[in-house]
Amino acid sequence: MRVARLALATAASIAAWPLAASAQDLKIPLYAADAHVGVTSCGGSTCHGAVEPFKGSNVLQNEFVTWQREDKHSRAYAVLMNDRSKRIARNLGLEAAHTAKLCLDCHSDNVAQDMRGRQFQLSDGVGCESCHGGARRWLGTHVAGATHDENVKAGLYPTDDPVLRAKLCVSCHFGVASDTKFVTHKIMGAGHPRMPFELDTFTTIQPAHYVVDDDYRKRKKSPSGVQVWAIGQAMQMAAILESVLDGSRNRQGVFPELVAFDCHACHHQMSQEIDLRWQGRRGVGLPPGYPRFNDANLVMMRVIANRIDPELGRRLAARTTDLHKAVAGGFDSYQSKARDLLVAVNDMARRAAAHGFSKDDMQAVLTGLLDEGKAGELFDYAAAEQAVMALGSIISAMKTAGAIDAAQLEKLNAQLERCYAATADDELFRPGDFAAAIEGFRGLVR
Ligand code: HEC
Ligand code: HEC
Ligand code: HEC
Ligand code: HEC
Repeated sequence: MRVARLALATAASIAAWPLAASAQDLKIPLYAADAHVGVTSCGGSTCHGAVEPFKGSNVLQNEFVTWQREDKHSRAYAVLMNDRSKRIARNLGLEAAHTAKLCLDCHSDNVAQDMRGRQFQLSDGVGCESCHGGARRWLGTHVAGATHDENVKAGLYPTDDPVLRAKLCVSCHFGVASDTKFVTHKIMGAGHPRMPFELDTFTTIQPAHYVVDDDYRKRKKSPSGVQVWAIGQAMQMAAILESVLDGSRNRQGVFPELVAFDCHACHHQMSQEIDLRWQGRRGVGLPPGYPRFNDANLVMMRVIANRIDPELGRRLAARTTDLHKAVAGGFDSYQSKARDLLVAVNDMARRAAAHGFSKDDMQAVLTGLLDEGKAGELFDYAAAEQAVMALGSIISAMKTAGAIDAAQLEKLNAQLERCYAATADDELFRPGDFAAAIEGFRGLVR
């Protein structure tokens, strides 16, 4: 599977958004109390269903067309009818994928029956209200020109807030602990694809149905891509650890639930001709023969924290190693180390949300990533994949912040291409080739 590619063209300003405790408690649209009116109610030609962007309007007004034609979310329900889904359903003993709550909770806007308006259709897949919140209360007032804050008070989900956006996207792109809205190793074993995710990259590759311009920045939050990346790492890791700590979710028979582990620690060739896989890693500290906890997000977070809060960086590194080592101990110690690590991860989310990333920060974080590569910490495919998305995100943010010129950008992009090539196929991944590709960034930025 290919690493998601980042088009190098995000616009964003450098700013910090403190994380309000109340905001973090806000329910995602699927669980909130507002009824969903359906995509058709948003997609009228004078509303969000224009064929061309409207001139003189704050928003594009052709959002529906972009979503319907280019955005995979509009096809999320339809894929439940394809052969792969049929096979997954058969393997799991489900009657059909497109009628199973297990699949619909992420592949459609599966709110309760009494929360569905007259024009609501499940077949619309992941529609406007899956992300923007049930529109029953705000549909009328937002048409009449309510402000963003007023809309939010009436139930619009604030997708511009990076913490809340992370919570929303991760709820489907990883899952929700203590819920069936979760892809277990059993579901993956039945044929569901692996779900790599990085918030800034995925925000960028979702076909944009909005423009971050001066007008937008006045109305809404517009964090830098690096900040979105940093927050996304922490929020995603928090979700993973919460699932590890959830008693109904954290075991598969005698094994721990394996989605939190590095897939390729088990699923790889044993032939040494492809690559000599096993090597001790400083940040892990386990002997050979143990599956590794997937620490890709943790390596990224450590790099960020080392720059913005070195004490937190050390704490994250120490707690990460503790968790790795606990995998060789009993289940209780695994749980207790996961709990300790979650505290540091939540601290990281708060720190990242309150930090305005400067040009110097961006450069330092980039160098920090290269150092992790050199130390062999990006040896696992999952970490390499996160590193490539991170590099794309950082380079793009540096461009936006004016930290690099056109000549530098060209060289960086060429190097990024080499990293994409080295991670193009997880089955053929060679850590040595990737290490060389990433080391090639050194010297390209001061
Ligand atoms: C926790 C949320 C979640 C659940 C539960 C879930 N999926 Fe998915 N599924 C996703 C996401 C997210 C992707 C896209 C991954 C990507 O491309 O990055 C996906 C991708 C897929 C794909 C590949 C789509 C494509 O375009 O090739 C299929 C097929 C699929 N899911 C079927 C199912 C079936 C069948 C079920 C129920 C057994 C299910 N999914 C349950 C979130 C979920
Ligand atoms: C997968 C999640 C997702 C889906 C589905 C989605 N959006 Fe969005 N939308 C976003 C994000 C993220 C933003 C950018 C952050 C923001 O402005 O809140 C956004 C922004 C917008 C904006 C704000 C533009 C501005 O300048 O303020 C409008 C309008 C919008 N979406 C309409 C729609 C409509 C209409 C649909 C359905 C046809 C839709 N969206 C589907 C996530 C989504
Ligand atoms: C209700 C569940 C849900 C939510 C919320 C959601 N997604 Fe998705 N997303 C999916 C599913 C399911 C797919 C796979 C659809 C397919 O392949 O047909 C997907 C696919 C994608 C893809 C395409 C990936 C690829 O491999 O090409 C991107 C990009 C993406 N989502 C970004 C986001 C972002 C950014 C957010 C948050 C603003 C978000 N999604 C929120 C369920 C969701
Ligand atoms: C601790 C080792 C281990 C880890 C980690 C692990 N798996 Fe597995 N996986 C297995 C075993 C054992 C089977 C059963 C193999 C069989 O049926 O032949 C399996 C089966 C599968 C299968 C179906 C059988 C096959 O090999 O085609 C898929 C797909 C799969 N796993 C995906 C994943 C993904 C994705 C991840 C990471 C999120 C993952 N696994 C993590 C051990 C692991």
